[in-house]
Amino acid sequence: MIKTYGVVLIGCGHIGEQHIQEIYDKHEATIIATVDTNEKIAKSFASRFEAESYGTDYRPYLKDPRVEIVIIATYTDTHFAILRDCLLHGKHVICEKPIATNLDDAREFVRLVKESHCKVSVSHVLRYNRSYRKIKEMIDAGEIGELRMVRMNQSHHAGEEGHPWDRFIRLMQDCPPLIDCGVHYADVIQWFAESPIVAVSGISSKVDEDAPCDNYQVMLMELANGCRGYYEVGWSNNISSNNDKDFIGTKGHITLTMAQNRTDGINDKDRICVYYGDERKPDVIMDYDSVYKDMYGQYLNLIDMIENDAEGVVPIDAVYTSFRTVVLAYEAIKQGKRILIPDEHELLENV
Ligand SMILES: NC(=O)c1ccc[n+]([C@@H]2O[C@H](COP(=O)([O-])OP(=O)(O)OC[C@H]3O[C@@H](n4cnc5c(N)ncnc54)[C@H](O)[C@@H]3O)[C@@H](O)[C@H]2O)c1
Repeated sequence: MIKTYGVVLIGCGHIGEQHIQEIYDKHEATIIATVDTNEKIAKSFASRFEAESYGTDYRPYLKDPRVEIVIIATYTDTHFAILRDCLLHGKHVICEKPIATNLDDAREFVRLVKESHCKVSVSHVLRYNRSYRKIKEMIDAGEIGELRMVRMNQSHHAGEEGHPWDRFIRLMQDCPPLIDCGVHYADVIQWFAESPIVAVSGISSKVDEDAPCDNYQVMLMELANGCRGYYEVGWSNNISSNNDKDFIGTKGHITLTMAQNRTDGINDKDRICVYYGDERKPDVIMDYDSVYKDMYGQYLNLIDMIENDAEGVVPIDAVYTSFRTVVLAYEAIKQGKRILIPDEHELLENV
């Protein structure tokens, strides 16, 4: 039986709903308030999730001692300022990624987290995903030899469930998809390869005229240990959705197909395949039970951090280096060159 924490949700949109739904379903929190600048949405969340109250301004709730955990699920340009307010008021935080819209704020974000006695978990949700964790285990066990190449695509055709074009337009006012979503995948490759990204480059294009910035990107990543990878992303009315992941080693490769992307009619389990030879016949096939965005796993992890002073599943340095990677990759694209990333240790000492 875990302690019942007082929780406030700030940002009642697409991802805020996923956070609060899981906590509500598991009945292991008192939802003190739901907050959104749009009062109607805040009110409807309060009613759906039986929050004690709702509001358009989060600040009064930070003064309430019953509030112990704040979930920041607002737009990216607000994450840093809200985090700072939460830590000032002694609240533990689950904060959506990306942590900021620029490197200066990101450094300050990390510094505040490191100096605070409160616990902060940034939503790099793939770290909680059982399929990703399984693949990491297999790579660590040497099942595909040495990891040499990682191919990752995460593109959304606007209009698919939960992804209306106007939501993407608003997200892209803060950062392009490469930065917004790329932090997950810069993190995955460094986590899997256990080596830092040392150089980035890429290409970019604006494929929808009304997109507020380039809305299609490919980022190339070079890691210190020789592993290489790319990440392709687009949010558009003009490209197809794709979620292919391929982890290639010196002895074989592993593919991951998320449950929602399977075309064989089985949509409740991810499929992990390991190939050592014939690419039409996987040598290992696993239908793997996983939750794509395990928000409850993340919530439990924050509680473990609070109660046991645990480091947490997502180290804050990994959050920072992932963010820095995508920001520099976008810079490399804009400058039309390859950018070398300073030594990770040196870079974190400067935070
Ligand atoms: N971890 C993930 O996998 C994941 C997935 C999707 C989105 N995100 C991130 O979550 C954030 C929100 O994205 P979304 O898709 O839920 O957007 P959304 O538009 O669906 O919802 C955002 C909500 O926040 C509210 N809001 C904005 N500023 C506010 C403020 N200052 N105070 C209170 N409410 C405020 C908006 O009114 C809106 O209802 C973005 O940073 C995005 O990158 C993360």
